[in-house]
Amino acid sequence: MNEISQEKPRLADVGAGFGELFINRAKTEPEKSFLIIEPLGFPDLPTQEMPKNLTWIKGRLTDKEALPFQNGSVDEVNLNFSLSTMYADYQSPDQEFGGYLQKILREAFRVLKDDGRLIVREERGFCQDVLRPSLDELGADFRMTPAQKKDLSLTGQEMWADYHLDPKKNQRLQPMEVVITKIANPDTVEA
Ligand SMILES: C[S@@+](CC[C@H](N)C(=O)[O-])C[C@H]1O[C@@H](n2cnc3c(N)ncnc32)[C@H](O)[C@@H]1O
Repeated sequence: MNEISQEKPRLADVGAGFGELFINRAKTEPEKSFLIIEPLGFPDLPTQEMPKNLTWIKGRLTDKEALPFQNGSVDEVNLNFSLSTMYADYQSPDQEFGGYLQKILREAFRVLKDDGRLIVREERGFCQDVLRPSLDELGADFRMTPAQKKDLSLTGQEMWADYHLDPKKNQRLQPMEVVITKIANPDTVEA
């Protein structure tokens, strides 16, 4: 007989901003553990009661800074418009952003369980020009579809509104959802 795991599913949002997506989900999905990693730390929201199943960690993901989770311990990693922020901030004379991005993605794969998923939400232009080449080089399986409005964070909702003002003209702004299957044997980032 198969054992039924009693452990709660663990979901991470890296670069969560104000964290509103996970705060709301933690309230309505008490059977899951929600983990936020955000460089700016905890938001100043005095009236907001933080759900007990949400852990807020001040930290960042870079090619030198690993996620504070063990190998194969997370069911889902979300990167909501945080990769494009890293891209905009990126400055390195020694390395193309593509190489840097692959290290970030490998680190996300390291913490994922074997059947875990990495979910990236970004505008179509970034997905096509920056994300897709790195995923192809890693040999990752992925599915790219338009993101649903209900799954979008504050940043995504703004992008969604801009896109819908004139979808033909703003095609590259369309928020997309990229669901990526874990690659085998990801290298790890040194902690
Ligand atoms: C455009 S905001 C998106 C915030 C939120 N996810 C949303 O969709 O509304 C980008 C976020 O990425 C965070 N960020 C930037 N560099 C990061 C890094 N190296 N690791 C983790 N988060 C990072 C920023 O602090 C910011 O909160």
